[in-house]
Amino acid sequence: MKKILITGGAGFIGSHVVRLFVNKYPNYEIVNLDKLTYAGNLANLKDIENKSNYSFVKGDIVDAAFINELFSKNKFDAVIHLAAESHVDRSITNPLEFLMTNVIGTVNLLNAAKNEWKDNFSAHRFYHVSTDEVYGTLGETGLFTETTSYDPHSPYSASKASSDHFVRAYHDTYGLDAVISNCSNNYGSYHFPEKLIPLSIYNIKNNKSIPIYGKGENIRDWLFVEDHARAIDVIFHNAKAGTTYNIGGHNEWTNIDLIHLLCKIMDKKLNRPEGKSAELITYVKDRAGHDMRYAIDSSKLQKELGWTPSLQFEEGLERTVDWYLANEEWLNNVTSGDYKKYYEQQYVKR
Ligand code: NAD
Ligand code: TYD
Repeated sequence: MKKILITGGAGFIGSHVVRLFVNKYPNYEIVNLDKLTYAGNLANLKDIENKSNYSFVKGDIVDAAFINELFSKNKFDAVIHLAAESHVDRSITNPLEFLMTNVIGTVNLLNAAKNEWKDNFSAHRFYHVSTDEVYGTLGETGLFTETTSYDPHSPYSASKASSDHFVRAYHDTYGLDAVISNCSNNYGSYHFPEKLIPLSIYNIKNNKSIPIYGKGENIRDWLFVEDHARAIDVIFHNAKAGTTYNIGGHNEWTNIDLIHLLCKIMDKKLNRPEGKSAELITYVKDRAGHDMRYAIDSSKLQKELGWTPSLQFEEGLERTVDWYLANEEWLNNVTSGDYKKYYEQQYVKR
């Protein structure tokens, strides 16, 4: 019997992690803490919300008093921390919010965990979910390994790098059992349509232009979100205290090649003539500080813990498109209200 706090469980990756743990471990008690920002949506968890080993708490990790009380009331055995502001473009317009949630919020959780668990650190675990963006950008060759120096460029990656440093510091200084994983770009169901893949699916479906930053030559290493959730499960249960694992799919795509593949899939699914969706591709002003290439070496995780990605990208992308086309109501709900304001500011009024 374990009581696990999962933060950010109403978001994209968090909802997949909550679903996996609730279904796979009926004897664990999973508490999902989420502020329900624009990116958090309880509809992401409809299928498991009534399970007896699941509960939801609405709250803000920036509120230290609330976090301390939550920890003292609940006696958690472990934390899997995913709550964050996660979109690079938003971090460029509002860096302070990223500092507050990603850094202060993480330190609040670390403090609460340290105070509650100080008499028996080895019976507890703090798992921090991070990103490969902390490593900065690669040239044409090479891969990020766990020992690559941190070199963040965006306010988002700077805030995640800072939170990683705090997590390591709490392990090294106080003895907290802490584990970190740094993952590459995820894709799949329940992905908020501000990120490249779901935004492009939404726009293609609605015959809106597909905004490609710069020349579309930037490279990302894409991993199916359920494979990330499986990796978190494996690392959470098997990693030694104080270790870091990189997670990635060995699946590099330039943005423009990826969008052409997506357009081809969308033409097929929407019964459009081949080439029709690609007519929507529009090159727009580049993102400031845009990292050129991310690519992950996940051999440590593969060798030590036996994890491997399960899906080929073409298959995963097609499954993702099918999910978005079958879940029109979800897409309509998350794109109503504030989404339109964000879209105008980001793409129309620039
Ligand atoms: P997301 O934006 O979809 O979800 C974030 C969740 O955190 C939302 O449910 C939101 O309501 C919640 N949240 C935000 N601020 C909060 C606060 N102050 N208090 C409590 N809850 C708060 O993000 P995601 O894409 O699911 O990413 C989850 C984690 O994984 C993040 O830490 C991110 O840095 C990391 N990550 C993401 C990717 C990716 O490709 N999306 C890749 C690697 C790592
Ligand atoms: P994104 O999904 O925002 O993830 P990240 O910035 O964390 O890698 O962007 C993925 C890539 O797609 C990145 O190189 C920026 C680019 N991009 C566009 O070209 N147009 C867009 O509208 C968005 C959101 C991203």
